[in-house]
Amino acid sequence: MRVVVGLLLLLLALCGSGAQGEGGGLGQVGEISEFQETAPRDAAEESAESTTKQTTHIWAEVRALRDMVVELKVFVQLLQRENSDQEMRLTATESKTTDLEKENADLQTRLSSSESELLLSKSRIDQLERENTERPKVAFYTALTDAGYIGPQNTDITLKYSKVFTNIGNAYNPATGFFTAPVKGVYYLQFTVCGNHTGLMGVYVYKNNQRIMFNVEWKEDAHYKYFTNSAVLELMPGDNIRLVLPSTFVIYDDVDNHSTFSGSLLFTL
Ligand SMILES: *[C@@H]1O[C@H](CO)[C@@H](O)[C@H](O)[C@H]1NC(C)=O
Ligand SMILES: *[C@@H]1O[C@H](CO)[C@@H](O)[C@H](O)[C@H]1NC(C)=O
Repeated sequence: MRVVVGLLLLLLALCGSGAQGEGGGLGQVGEISEFQETAPRDAAEESAESTTKQTTHIWAEVRALRDMVVELKVFVQLLQRENSDQEMRLTATESKTTDLEKENADLQTRLSSSESELLLSKSRIDQLERENTERPKVAFYTALTDAGYIGPQNTDITLKYSKVFTNIGNAYNPATGFFTAPVKGVYYLQFTVCGNHTGLMGVYVYKNNQRIMFNVEWKEDAHYKYFTNSAVLELMPGDNIRLVLPSTFVIYDDVDNHSTFSGSLLFTL
């Protein structure tokens, strides 16, 4: 821009000097006419001289004009170059803007897809949390008694494990000795039987009113003896499991928790 202003000033200066030259020329012409009047004697000669002078002057003017035209041309070229430079810069800026706009659009697309992914994960987490809170929790762990020997009896009796240490979900009932499945699922059940006498020790396992397991041991002497067994059972809601002491059998428990019954829901179905 400074170049342009400089050139403009230069141009103005040139125009000014041209005008001055013109004025001078006219003055000279006036002087010549005056001279012609006062000295008519060598009029033809002087006229020729004056014409030559005028021609020379006109040529000078023409040269000055040509120079001006050349300067103008240069100036115009400069302006054109500057203009095209600016256009190029503008084009570059425009393409940069387009690039930025595209990048912005890309980012927005990515952002919205991340947002929808986030929403999906959130709803998945909500669902899992709901499932987790709604999932029934079932686990129990009991021991038989602090009283020592149970049995022998004349009939089979359901064992009421009276020391309830864990009973999440209250599926085990110490008043009846029944474990009742609250939901359809797969359950893990385990029991340990202790004997401390000479004779038979053992239990039946009942599912509802059906015997599903009989574990028995003959004891030769009055020393502590144990066995443990377990079952993984698919149960419907309301199905119950209990341990039954066969008639004439004896099992043993005291404060040391020798005879236990436990179970838990592995997963619902
Ligand atoms: C259990 O067996 C042990 C070892 O034979 C014996 O010392 C103990 O007296 C028995 N307990 C009872 C309550 O009989
Ligand atoms: C029997 O089990 C309960 C529960 O685990 C425990 O608090 C108690 O101390 C146990 N008794 C003995 C003698 O270990």
